Amino acid sequence: MISLRVAIIQTEGCHCEIRKPANMLRHIQIHTIASRKAAVDLIQNGLVRGISQSLQCRRPEVELTSVRYPGVRRGNYAQLSDRHVQHFRSILPKERVITETEDVAGYNVDWLRMVRGVSQIVLKPKITEEVSAILEYCNAENLAVCPQGGNTGLVGGSVPVFDEVIISTSLMNSIVSLDELSGILVCQAGCILENLESYLSERGFMMPLDLGAKGTCQIGGNVSTNAGGIRLIRYGSLQGSVLGIEAVKADGEVIDCLSSLKKDNTGYHLKHLFIGSEGTLGIVTKVSIQCPPSPKAVNVAFLGLDSFDDILRTFTEARSGLGEILSSCEMMDLLSLDAATSNLKLQRPIGEFPFYMLIETSGSNGTHDEEKLTKFLETLMANGVVRDGTVASEPSRIKLMWNLREGITGGLLHDGYVYKYDISLPHNSFYAIIPELRTLLPADKVGRICGYGHVGDGNLHLNITTPKFDPDVLKIIEPFVFEWTSKLKGSVSAEHGIGFKKTQYIHFSKSQSSLNLMVNIKKLMDPKGILNPYKVLPAQH
Ligand code: FAD
Ligand code: MLT
Ligand code: ZN
Repeated sequence: MISLRVAIIQTEGCHCEIRKPANMLRHIQIHTIASRKAAVDLIQNGLVRGISQSLQCRRPEVELTSVRYPGVRRGNYAQLSDRHVQHFRSILPKERVITETEDVAGYNVDWLRMVRGVSQIVLKPKITEEVSAILEYCNAENLAVCPQGGNTGLVGGSVPVFDEVIISTSLMNSIVSLDELSGILVCQAGCILENLESYLSERGFMMPLDLGAKGTCQIGGNVSTNAGGIRLIRYGSLQGSVLGIEAVKADGEVIDCLSSLKKDNTGYHLKHLFIGSEGTLGIVTKVSIQCPPSPKAVNVAFLGLDSFDDILRTFTEARSGLGEILSSCEMMDLLSLDAATSNLKLQRPIGEFPFYMLIETSGSNGTHDEEKLTKFLETLMANGVVRDGTVASEPSRIKLMWNLREGITGGLLHDGYVYKYDISLPHNSFYAIIPELRTLLPADKVGRICGYGHVGDGNLHLNITTPKFDPDVLKIIEPFVFEWTSKLKGSVSAEHGIGFKKTQYIHFSKSQSSLNLMVNIKKLMDPKGILNPYKVLPAQH
């Protein structure tokens, strides 16, 4: 039985404005016994194992990185001494030189709680000159440093491996300028992404990137990881939107590439050295970024589907049918969504299906977008590709739907330990690794094997959970996942970076000659290797 009820009400004007029309939510329902059964089977056949007991897990102390990874040796750097601390206090006021063990503790542990360093000091500069003075001194004294933004990185890059000096940009949070004609924003690196979004939306603009960690991550961290996120399909990568960068090299020299020009072909594009280099080539202190105008109409469709092939069909149709208004194309399987619904107690807006998609449109003409979206959904439903769905145009409803997709990352942590992979794959082989891993991994040890991600960008987030870290499980997953990805000519890191966790796997996605050039660039810019050691480049370099 198929029933379709569509009542479209568009929110015009700034998409942050909240209005209350009577029927903001469009609900499309198709009832098929088969699709519900498939979804229920996934749960009942034990694919979500050990979750209830792991929900009761308390947060045990994270094992030291040096203990969990005994093969990683501390570099020949100086040890922090009282003399060093005194010097830092001559650069920064006392309250911005943090040395109390309990105050430093949080900066030593990453968001995923998988790595922990033993730094004894956090420095909090406010201006570029302070960063410069700190780095000049650390370089002269051979003190290793770890740049840290919001500490939401997922590859262990943002925390020290051993006792590196932590340089936190969290107080470098001023907006320098916004050109309201061009939409070019210049700000300090420590501005929180969500704060920038709020600032811009009040002025009719938006950030060209958005991600689940927006409330905590900083633009400097975003640029340093070349973060992708949920709107890359529409606005492209930061390599395109970032127009200029100011950064401080390891020896304290300030590199001013803070261009606010859209076109500037004067020599090498040095900004690209810093975009995505994860704090290994310099500390980003300011960013100039091209911001698009806020859309006038936004719609989000949350769809239930029976198979991954149906996801690909929907994506293909979205690209051609929605065209320029498509602003997000995300997928999640049932077990991924379950991490948000069961573990975070979020409400699922439609029934149980093996797969879900979240499709967002945004544009400047609500009526036009509405026509396109309706036609798109009607076609897919008539063909039986989309089994059930709900569409929202009202900001608070849209947020609820996005919470489901963005809540997965945090929800997974409730299972215990998360083995997190972020790979780029050709679309036709996108999901195949999940069933493969379900046959490879021991049922009694593994809680969840699930996949979600930015399907529109060919970026799968493959996640496996166990109640606690299990080295035997890890041995089955790695290097298998990377070999699989490499055979398909994918990338072992689509958007999260290499950080500490993936250094020995970078060669699966980079040729030896590229790696050699990376090593030479690193030597040129940071000859003593003080900037974020043990990250990005493989250990032998
Ligand atoms: P940090 O985690 O502090 O640092 C990340 C790396 O950048 C480290 O190597 C650090 O040394 C370096 N660094 C930080 N600031 C600077 C600086 N100013 N100069 C030089 N180096 C610096 N990532 C995505 O790409 N897409 C997503 O959709 C996405 N979603 C996420 C959702 C959640 C819930 C979470 C927790 C994370 C998500 N991430 C995502 C990962 C993470 O948020 C991004 O990598 C983000 O860009 C990191 O920003 P940050 O300020 O937290 O940086
Ligand atoms: C996401 O897309 O949700 C993020 O990249 C975080 C994750 O991989 O869990
Ligand atoms: Zn992502």
